[in-house]
Amino acid sequence: MKYQKVEIMFCLEPTPTDPILGLTEEFRNDPSTEKINLGVGVYQNENGETPILKSVKIAEKYLFESESTKAYFGIPGEPVLGRLTQELLLGKKHSIIENSLAQTAQTPGGTGALRIAAEFISRARPKAHVWISNPSWANHQPILLGASLQIKRYRYYDAETHSLDNSGMLDDLSEANTGDVLILHGCCHNPAGVDLSSSDWENIADLASRKKLLCIVDFAYQGFGDGLIQDRNGLLTLIKKNSDLLIANSFSKNFGLYRERTGAITVISETKKDSQAAFSHIKEIIRAIYSSPPSHGGAIVSTILGDEKLKSLWLQELDEMRQRISAMRRDFVRSLKEKCPNHDFSFIEKQKGMFSFCGLSSEQVDRLKDEFHIYMVRSGRVNIAGITPSNIGRLTDAIETVL
Ligand code: LMR
Repeated sequence: MKYQKVEIMFCLEPTPTDPILGLTEEFRNDPSTEKINLGVGVYQNENGETPILKSVKIAEKYLFESESTKAYFGIPGEPVLGRLTQELLLGKKHSIIENSLAQTAQTPGGTGALRIAAEFISRARPKAHVWISNPSWANHQPILLGASLQIKRYRYYDAETHSLDNSGMLDDLSEANTGDVLILHGCCHNPAGVDLSSSDWENIADLASRKKLLCIVDFAYQGFGDGLIQDRNGLLTLIKKNSDLLIANSFSKNFGLYRERTGAITVISETKKDSQAAFSHIKEIIRAIYSSPPSHGGAIVSTILGDEKLKSLWLQELDEMRQRISAMRRDFVRSLKEKCPNHDFSFIEKQKGMFSFCGLSSEQVDRLKDEFHIYMVRSGRVNIAGITPSNIGRLTDAIETVL
């Protein structure tokens, strides 16, 4: 039989490299022994390492010995993870959990959760604009565009004062149409490190309820702000006044499970019937994209959260990570003050979570990379968790030079 040869031509222009993960590749390929990675949001200890948490290792050992099958789980993944995730997000005895108003599916990371949320919006609110903060995590826009959603930006960060642009945010959101979608960072805003205060959350909760906005809380850093319990306060405020919302959470940072791609999408609605209906769509969307999530990360999280002893070890490890980041914020500000007395960096100490905008221009960030092998996102976002006692001197010397 004779086959006809078909010429395949994609005719595609190459895309720009990813602003965060592309930087990680560059960092890996840099042969310098002095290089410093302040780019991707990955926790590093005082030796610049990202070790597996002890609680995770114990859970993995237990799983290795007890797991007896690799047969499929259902579409929502690890069966007990849903309930345990809800308890982590909302607190154990929350009425939403008691009344079965929340439904949760395990997802491949927080990114997977957001992608499912985006598809869900295109079904549930097809005409809505989706409001994201300016700035926001660099991947928010591509994820939303992947589901062909229309994006609008609300002012969030004031570069002059290095704090929340509260009036700008409320002004912009007052332009939202009834039924639009609002994405909020649950805590530890990425990239700004500037969080909403409790009264800001109250205002947003009122506005969302008045305009019937569907809120999606991106909750990737629970435990890295003020603590696991305190970090849920904004979400709880929102929930008091808004019966329907989505939460996309990640276990990458707080369990250090980055490459295991473990997160969850939770849908909450006013009645059990409504939340089950919404969840049936979430499951249908998941089935058509990846069928069901990989199990390992979810099994680790459930093992830890389901065992009091392991859970308290994990909480201790999470606290240690949070405290080390706070200590580095203090030392970073102190060292910058010594070396750059004409610049005020004190705002960095007030910010929360892994990131801060340090105020450097893209050109200065490029110089840090090209001349000093120091990698940070071109927006000037610094991963504070990448600063260590042994690299802080070189880092602040380099910043002094580029300033
Ligand atoms: C980050 O913002 O650096 C992290 O959330 C990792 C990522 O996927 O971008």
